[in-house]
Amino acid sequence: MKSIVVYSSLTGNTKMVGEAIAEVLAPNCDIYKVEDNPDITGYDLVVVGFWVDKGTADAKASKFLKSIRNSKVAVYATLGAEPDSEHAKTSLQNGIDMLDSSNEIMGRFICQGKIDPKLLEAMKKMFGTKVSKENFHAVDEKRLERHRKASTHPDEQDLANAKKVFSEIKAKMSGEMNL
Ligand SMILES: Cc1cc2nc3c(=O)[nH]c(=O)nc-3n(C[C@H](O)[C@H](O)[C@H](O)COP(=O)(O)O)c2cc1C
Repeated sequence: MKSIVVYSSLTGNTKMVGEAIAEVLAPNCDIYKVEDNPDITGYDLVVVGFWVDKGTADAKASKFLKSIRNSKVAVYATLGAEPDSEHAKTSLQNGIDMLDSSNEIMGRFICQGKIDPKLLEAMKKMFGTKVSKENFHAVDEKRLERHRKASTHPDEQDLANAKKVFSEIKAKMSGEMNL
């Protein structure tokens, strides 16, 4: 079974998870960053990883997801919020919904990824520290707490969880292909 992992990563979290997934899918697995725009022809499984940008897949991954046809695809993502939150579920689904209906979805995974401290500083400058309906992005204590929680991720447990999901996909597909 030949697999390809294509990830989009700004600060390394999504890359790290992609590398763990590629380990599980080895030896017949290639890994590329989305900027390389790899040719996915001939792969049995296409894995796409994105970082969540304002509740959906980041722009580069979005473009790639929309371009895929007639493939077996698994999608994973990293985000700052809790992975079992409604926001995480919707964000992952928003990425999956970009796939053309000619594809078959083989699985999905999402975990937390630390947020670049530079982003926090920029948000503080732009939006201050007082959250309101009109000023949702302000850096209040709740946001700081969310950032603190995310700051250790992806951790060993996240990588182990990703590996589990993808080894199950591999086992299922290998079984179907009589490998
Ligand atoms: C511009 C920007 C927008 C983001 N939007 C969200 C968001 O809507 N929800 C969320 O949970 N995390 C959000 N994040 C956090 C990232 O998704 C998270 O840190 C991710 O793990 C980054 O992955 P990377 O290291 O592969 O770039 C955002 C980060 C940036 C820089």
